[in-house]
Amino acid sequence: MTTIAIAGATGAVGQQMLECLKERNIQANLKLLASARSKGKEIDGHIVEELTQESFQGVDYVLGATGNNITKMWMPWAKEAGCIVVDNSSAYRLDEDVPLVIPEVNKEDIKNHHGLIANPNCATIIALVALHALHKKYHIKRMIVTTFQAVSGAGVQGIEDLKNQIEDENIPSKAFPYQIAFNLIPQIGDFDDLGISKEEWKMQNEARKMWHDDALKVNCTCVRVPIWRSHSESITIECENEVDVNEARELLTHAKGVLLKDDPKNQIYPMPKDTTNQDLVYVGRIRKDITDETNHTLSLFCCGDQIRKGAATNAVQILDELLKAND
Ligand SMILES: NC(=O)c1ccc[n+]([C@@H]2O[C@H](COP(=O)([O-])OP(=O)(O)OC[C@H]3O[C@@H](n4cnc5c(N)ncnc54)[C@H](OP(=O)(O)O)[C@@H]3O)[C@@H](O)[C@H]2O)c1
Repeated sequence: MTTIAIAGATGAVGQQMLECLKERNIQANLKLLASARSKGKEIDGHIVEELTQESFQGVDYVLGATGNNITKMWMPWAKEAGCIVVDNSSAYRLDEDVPLVIPEVNKEDIKNHHGLIANPNCATIIALVALHALHKKYHIKRMIVTTFQAVSGAGVQGIEDLKNQIEDENIPSKAFPYQIAFNLIPQIGDFDDLGISKEEWKMQNEARKMWHDDALKVNCTCVRVPIWRSHSESITIECENEVDVNEARELLTHAKGVLLKDDPKNQIYPMPKDTTNQDLVYVGRIRKDITDETNHTLSLFCCGDQIRKGAATNAVQILDELLKAND
């Protein structure tokens, strides 16, 4: 039987990966790996092992759910052991020989892998699932995006910080630079000399790679918000072709991975509470940009569960494709 290891199995993404494997009825021996702190913990009947150089012997596939530095530590060990890895960190996403994949967008890139496939950034996955059908029809040249990112995007500690501060605002944040309860923080990742954060660059760099279009321009502002789970995004797209709101709605009705929630007069639109703990990206508030008289620009709002579709589900979908190809 196939053996699958989850590296970072005790984290927000790792625990969700375990759920997703179960939901998809993927039959395999499972190996849950985490730091020495978690050795011996039980999760859903499995005992967590400490991740060491020997952990990957006899493992066929690894689902990676650790931060960049830890991922860089164990990746050579997994490679050495001959495992195929689907990794959630940003450590290898832009490497030329590593496919970066959202199955609804560029599933065909999976076959170019050399033992490692990267899962994109969570906000980028949600945006591209929402936009892919529109991109195919209208060819998006430029996007202006503002993200509203849930605390669980910063892992288990992000959830802990919000929980603590709802009880007592004086408890300092460990995952964020400021108090997050009853607040917003317009910073996710370090800023460069242009004043653009690491998270903001990901949207342009990763979208370019998956759409195979180096001319795409993205102006992105990432904001951390005191929401448990599900990222939301306000997006304006400027396209090469003329756009039409009704046609855009029709395209999104049939788009893979999307649920259209667009009836504003009846107060129907996407909200993070509704997208939590399911895999679809909800899209709504589709409207013309009235400042563009040439009719090439559309605005919309979308939400998606970033631990599921933005991370664990996307990785398990890729794994599913690999397993099918090896059948
Ligand atoms: N959270 C999201 O919404 C999201 C979305 C997309 C991508 N990602 C990416 O997914 C990865 C995991 O994120 P997360 O949010 O799940 O983080 P998390 O909740 O902080 O979990 C981190 C995991 O890494 C493990 N770990 C830490 N140090 C380790 C060590 N020395 N050896 C082995 N394992 C170690 C932790 O184990 P212990 O419990 O033993 O410390 C835990 O299982 C990150 O690269 C993140 O950027 C996250």
